[in-house]
Amino acid sequence: MIKETVTLANARAMAASAPDFLLGAARRAGPNLKVGVGPLTLTVLAEPEALQQVLQKNYKVWGRGTSVDAIRPLLGNGLPLSDPPLWLTQRRTMQPSFHRAHGPNWVHTMRDVAAASLDALTSGGELLVRHLMMTIARDVIVRAMFSGSLGDDTTPYDEAFGVVEDYVSTTMVPGKLPLWVPTPRHLRFKRSVAFLHEQLQRVIDERRRLEQPPHDLLTLLVQAKDPETGDAMSDQQLRDEVMNIFFAGHETTANLMTWSVFLLSQHPAVRDAVEAEVKTVLGTRPPEPEDVPKLTLLAAVIREVLRLYPPAWLFARQCFEDTEVAGERFTKGQVVLVLPYVTHRLPTLWKDPDTFDPSRFAQEPSTDAATWKYAYLPFGAGPHVCIGNHFALLEATVVLAMLLQRGRLEVLRPDEVKPKMGATLCVGNGLPARFVGA
Ligand code: HEM
Repeated sequence: MIKETVTLANARAMAASAPDFLLGAARRAGPNLKVGVGPLTLTVLAEPEALQQVLQKNYKVWGRGTSVDAIRPLLGNGLPLSDPPLWLTQRRTMQPSFHRAHGPNWVHTMRDVAAASLDALTSGGELLVRHLMMTIARDVIVRAMFSGSLGDDTTPYDEAFGVVEDYVSTTMVPGKLPLWVPTPRHLRFKRSVAFLHEQLQRVIDERRRLEQPPHDLLTLLVQAKDPETGDAMSDQQLRDEVMNIFFAGHETTANLMTWSVFLLSQHPAVRDAVEAEVKTVLGTRPPEPEDVPKLTLLAAVIREVLRLYPPAWLFARQCFEDTEVAGERFTKGQVVLVLPYVTHRLPTLWKDPDTFDPSRFAQEPSTDAATWKYAYLPFGAGPHVCIGNHFALLEATVVLAMLLQRGRLEVLRPDEVKPKMGATLCVGNGLPARFVGA
């Protein structure tokens, strides 16, 4: 494994765009590498065989461990932060709540939420695409999870979620002060978390008392039972899972939709072809669940966007015992970074890796092929693979199709668009655009 060192000369490149800096290093030095940043040495794994080793074959040795401690005060021990045995029980218990059979219900929710925001767009009006997509994605997950249980005025929740999102987006910034330091931002974060926990508990209590609860994700989770033991979740666990689903499930999807708008705006031939597909399949009527599989070009576009700009561009694993990967010894407690952003752009795996070309996804690849699974992993891979991947793909398809029916978002100053490192990979400037109605 080769070591790249971040010197003063390239520290600026690292600060400007960590994803591109790490990609450049992997292209120079090989897909698995160590990057020295001051006193820190980061181990980066991007080669499919190494990823399969860590994420699947040896997943019991490589877990989340303490690598996710920065967000534990908010997210507790929810699925994305936990390790076996708790993770296994929870995954078994929650899997049915995300079954594809719920798809039609979700599509109707997504469609209604998207219409409310998209119908308000006025021709010639300027907006930040990221803000639009965050609003839609947040409303979708709130409606899919709680139906109307948060009440008519969701302003206090929007404010609290906004504060928490702001904090979460900074958790990856190196040299951050620990949460116990009472900065105004930390105090706001703690107040907002306390508010959200209290309100969630209230909604869960109410839901447990209802004789005919609404058919939404919260009801499914309240009623979920471990198929092996028959146990339901405790209130605390349920609260943690709901918070996790909320955070795992909306910023990622909002970024996917934002990058899709950007890439379509820069590739007019592809945009025209997708518009034509949407027109043929839907005309001007709202999408129905059975339309989704017919939008095959849009599906290929979404997959290609996830390749070039995977919202979960980086995640970590920590080893629980001494082990070996890619010919390198790791001692208990060491952390490796898994970087889909880098893997998805390795020239050894992808032809013209930086080119936006949805036709590479025009044919469904064999999902059994191990090399494929670990060369393309926007939703992770192995037992921890994203539980909400079907939900996310449905949402992006429905929202983008409805946007294309209504008109175009012309991106302003496209040269300024750069990926920004946060908890997820977002568009740095929020993507200012002008709406031009169809
Ligand atoms: C484009 C959208 C999304 C992307 C790119 C994405 C990506 C990922 C990735 C890479 C992982 C694996 C992390 C790891 O191995 O440590 C993951 C896990 C997870 N995701 Fe997603 N996700 C998306 C949408 C969603 C949605 C919509 C939900 C829920 C409604 C969701 C819920 C979860 C949960 C609960 C886990 C933890 C699974 C486990 O550890 O068993 N995600 N996601």
